[in-house]
Amino acid sequence: MAVDGVQPTPSPGPEPGPQPAPSPLAAYDAESLARCRRGAGAYCLAAGMLLLIFGALDRTRFPGATGALLFVRGAGAAALGLLLALLRTRLGARHPRALGIVAAATTGAIEQVLSLAAEGGVQGAESPINLGTTFAMLGAAVLIPWSPVWSAFACMLVVGEYVVTAVGTGRAAGLLFDDKLTLFVAVGVVAVVISAVLQRRRWREFLQTWALAAAHREAREREKRYRSVVETAGSIIVVLAPGGSVTEFNREAERVLGWSQAAAVGRDFLPSFVTQASRATVAADIRMALAGEPTHAFEARWLARDGGERVMACGTTRLVDDDGRAVGVLLCAQDVSERKQAEDARLALERRLLEAQKLESLGVLAGGIAHDFNNLLVSVLGNASLALSELPPHAPACEALRRIERAARRGSELTREMLAYAGKDVIALERVDVNALVAETSDLLSVSIGNKVAMAYDLAPGLPEIEGDPTQIRQVIMNLVINASEAIGGAEGTITVCTGVVGLGPEALRDTLHPPEAAPGPHVCVEVRDTGCGMDAATVAKVFDPFFSTKLTGRGLGLATVLGVVRRHRGALAVTSAPGRGTTFRVYLPAAGAAARLEPPARAAAPAPGEGREDRTVLLDVRAVTAHMLERLGCSVLQAGDGREGVDVFRAHARRIDAVIVDLTLPRLSGDRVFREIRSIRPDACVILMSGYSDEKTTGGLAEAGLAGFLRKPFSVADLEKALGDAARAAD
Ligand SMILES: Nc1ncnc2c1ncn2[C@@H]1O[C@H](COP(=O)(O)OP(=O)(O)OP(=O)(O)O)[C@@H](O)[C@H]1O
Ligand SMILES: [Mg+2]
Repeated sequence: MAVDGVQPTPSPGPEPGPQPAPSPLAAYDAESLARCRRGAGAYCLAAGMLLLIFGALDRTRFPGATGALLFVRGAGAAALGLLLALLRTRLGARHPRALGIVAAATTGAIEQVLSLAAEGGVQGAESPINLGTTFAMLGAAVLIPWSPVWSAFACMLVVGEYVVTAVGTGRAAGLLFDDKLTLFVAVGVVAVVISAVLQRRRWREFLQTWALAAAHREAREREKRYRSVVETAGSIIVVLAPGGSVTEFNREAERVLGWSQAAAVGRDFLPSFVTQASRATVAADIRMALAGEPTHAFEARWLARDGGERVMACGTTRLVDDDGRAVGVLLCAQDVSERKQAEDARLALERRLLEAQKLESLGVLAGGIAHDFNNLLVSVLGNASLALSELPPHAPACEALRRIERAARRGSELTREMLAYAGKDVIALERVDVNALVAETSDLLSVSIGNKVAMAYDLAPGLPEIEGDPTQIRQVIMNLVINASEAIGGAEGTITVCTGVVGLGPEALRDTLHPPEAAPGPHVCVEVRDTGCGMDAATVAKVFDPFFSTKLTGRGLGLATVLGVVRRHRGALAVTSAPGRGTTFRVYLPAAGAAARLEPPARAAAPAPGEGREDRTVLLDVRAVTAHMLERLGCSVLQAGDGREGVDVFRAHARRIDAVIVDLTLPRLSGDRVFREIRSIRPDACVILMSGYSDEKTTGGLAEAGLAGFLRKPFSVADLEKALGDAARAAD
């Protein structure tokens, strides 16, 4: 089996080790020695048996020499038996060929002695020399697997014995000698040829067996190398049969996926090891690999034995046999779960950072616009109310001016929401029981929603208090419920408001929209769930953007305000929604710690009922309209263009000034500093601060420092008059 497209590397030869592979010649030699030993043994046995068997004929053929022949046969058999025994010794193992030669020579010699003994018994009788000598040579060639050289040597000895015996007994000159010699020489030649043929065949067979053994050895070594590569690889390696079942499962796969090799092998790969979501991708890649197109570094989610998911970077390659047929697919995978998690976390962090930057810049933009717009509204509302006060009550222009006033007030509501979103609004922290707040608001909620919409409440008992601004939190709940009702529209549906306490960990916090100051810990969660139309992901991504609205008359400030409030409370927000499946908003507000109990902030001096008015007022505002409004109220006005100039003017006329109206944001010296300097010049000075932000809460600690009043911009002549009256009464 080979990886498709990869040539098997040539074998580096036998494994390094103390035993180098023997050469075929040496191996053949060693083997033929053993064979020779066995063959020589067989030869001795066969010769001895023939010798004894033919002894049975001696009584009829050589009746006169039976005794001598029996003796010779016995002695011959004993000699051959001795050789057989010798062959079993270490000498026989080391020199089987020499003993084989001795055996052949012994057989030949016995024949000569038998012949001599027989001729001595019956005159003229044929001696058994032909058969025995022929066996001595042919038997050696056939039974002893040695080379033709050894056969030739044995034959020469046997024939030589015959010649020596013939010469020694004086029969060498006879015709019989010539014939027999010719016969024996011919038999010798035949024996040598037989040996040569057999030797050649044995050598060929040996070479074949040798090559086969070498191929087996090579295959075993290759298998061993392959296995060690597979097992020690740092990657997961899984081999699949073309049908998709696992045939190999390496150690790394066992480690990462938790399956033992024994349990994994044989299982269907896709259902057992790949998640439902990734199955189609992996199946397609396996098909491609089987078709001869390897795939690389595709990501898929695999299943571990404990049901956990691992993200894998995988590659597939076809495995082919020697004929190039696909026999499986090799899947090589790296566990990149941790890397992926880190990457996801980094991306999420980047996204949150971008989100935070976007919110920050939108906040700055919204805050800036709201502030400037509010100042414009001061002019609009101020001038409208001035004009109104100068016209007779039934003048035709009065109605138009009232509409301008109303529009300006609505405009100022809008700026207030934008300021809340921008987080510029000041909140007054106090202990709030969210359940009680929801219960208080329920009447208001039920009149704000559609006729067919039902409200359901699921308020967790024993909820910890939070530190927050109840007005703003009420606003959050209202906005969410009104949106939910609008999402349900004219259909029937339910809005559920749930409360609960949640231990928001860092992980959970990360999945929410929250300001950087938000910290993990116990939070009170207010959940508003609806069965409305829901939103797609693109809408969800934009819902908190100011002025994002999908409604015909929507201003897109509801959720922006919610976000602003939640930010101011250092809370967090989460939304889940899907088209047609409803929406759930969750607002998390940090639970109040027992140690962090805050006293409600001291308010500015409580206004007394009734109205009052002073004659001389210094005005520190760059807008002329307020001066006109004051003059309209009968005040004589000293004006200053900036904070520093205002302090100078006050110093110059300190005794004659009854009240000071100062804007919070002034060039050169801010309103609160002006207030402090004026109070240092005249500690009983009556100072009213005006600002576009919230209400008197903006003044913070100034109330304790003696601030007489607060005027929220924009304001009408009546508002101004009331503020002056309240401040005067407070000063009394
Ligand atoms: N519960 C909800 N179900 C479906 N969509 C919602 C839901 N809440 C908000 N949205 C979507 O978010 C958008 C923005 O909401 P947001 O409250 O900020 O503005 P608005 O409701 O359109 O206008 P308004 O300023 O009058 O509240 C909505 O226009 C709507 O598309
Ligand atoms: Mg809304």
